[in-house]
Amino acid sequence: MSTRREFLTQAALATLMASGTTQAASADPAQPAPGSPATTTKSAGALKTYTIPHTDLVVTRLCYGNAMIGSDWDSADFIAQSVTVIRAAHEQGITFFDTADVYGKGKSELALGQVLKATSGLRRQVVIQSKCSNREGGVIDSSGEHITSAVEGSLQRLGTDYLDILLLHWPDSLIEPQEVGRAFDDLHRAGKVRHFGVSNYSPYQIELLRKHLHQPLVANQIQLGLAHWHTDPGASKAAITHGAEGVISLDYCRLQDIQVQAYSPLKGSNIGKPPNLLNAAADATPEVRKAVDTLQDLAHTHEVSPAAIMLAWLLHHPAGIVPIIGATKVEHVVDNCAADRVQLSRAEWYALLRAVAPIEQHT
Ligand SMILES: NC(=O)c1ccc[n+]([C@@H]2O[C@H](COP(=O)([O-])OP(=O)(O)OC[C@H]3O[C@@H](n4cnc5c(N)ncnc54)[C@H](OP(=O)(O)O)[C@@H]3O)[C@@H](O)[C@H]2O)c1
Repeated sequence: MSTRREFLTQAALATLMASGTTQAASADPAQPAPGSPATTTKSAGALKTYTIPHTDLVVTRLCYGNAMIGSDWDSADFIAQSVTVIRAAHEQGITFFDTADVYGKGKSELALGQVLKATSGLRRQVVIQSKCSNREGGVIDSSGEHITSAVEGSLQRLGTDYLDILLLHWPDSLIEPQEVGRAFDDLHRAGKVRHFGVSNYSPYQIELLRKHLHQPLVANQIQLGLAHWHTDPGASKAAITHGAEGVISLDYCRLQDIQVQAYSPLKGSNIGKPPNLLNAAADATPEVRKAVDTLQDLAHTHEVSPAAIMLAWLLHHPAGIVPIIGATKVEHVVDNCAADRVQLSRAEWYALLRAVAPIEQHT
């Protein structure tokens, strides 16, 4: 990670080099694919790292996101509790933090900002990713004007003068890709955003954007994991590992060297609802029981929790998937980080896939 001055110099150089070129030409061909042996190295801390393709950003394979503290974004304790758990995640070795302008109605960014401010030099040791485009009332706004003002707000709340990554949070049916391109260029040139990406985007939506961008899209954050075998109703079990066209874009992202980030990897706020993979309810179906047993057996073998096995299953995938964990209890953060040291075998990985695939789809 560089200082802002270094970044501004890099940004100016990149703008000079990129002028008149396409996104593909501005990408660094020397960057290996995420998760390839060349990008998976031991970090100075406890956790292994990836280099995000098309960037100089080295991030831990687990990212911490503080979208929720309890179920209420208006909670008076949101900031204090977030600060505690963000610190715990950093103490575990996590150097990659995910937030968004809307999380906690701005309190998620304020909490992260407090942690950054409290430790001298921390800002340059961590990678901060925020998102914009979701507005109140179910409105998605990727207009240039909104992107620009949203970033100003995020920078202010975070108390920093640059974001490492800005994601467009959700696809905008009214998107004007040229306008997005201009906003991205202006933000990059001004040194306010180093890299750009998307979230919940399909391959075609990414292609449409890429046609009009000078900046590479470096990440797509999507809902992914063993708990989301139902993500594409009607699709085969391959949907959770390869993606049905237009719904999940795992293979597409691999092809384009776009980092895949898996949100709600344990099922997020629906974790306790049936079918619960971490705990078979008394009335659970035989399929759910079998999946829970498989997870528990592997947890026993690897001496970690079933939740850590679910995360290790994502980490094992050669796409270099970065699970975004959202635990709000410190003991759960510690537990989740144990996934980083689990090495599943191919047989174990497929046993987990086979175990969840027959479970009846719910929603
Ligand atoms: N781009 C998007 O549209 C989008 C959407 C959703 C989320 N996100 C991002 O992804 C992050 C993570 O999402 P998430 O919170 O939904 O993910 P998650 O990590 O799948 O779910 C967190 C839930 O799992 C529980 N948990 C964690 N470890 C556990 C364990 N060992 N045993 C039992 N329960 C455990 C947590 O409990 P406790 O809270 O009690 O620890 C919490 O209820 C968010 O913070 C946000 O940054 C992005």
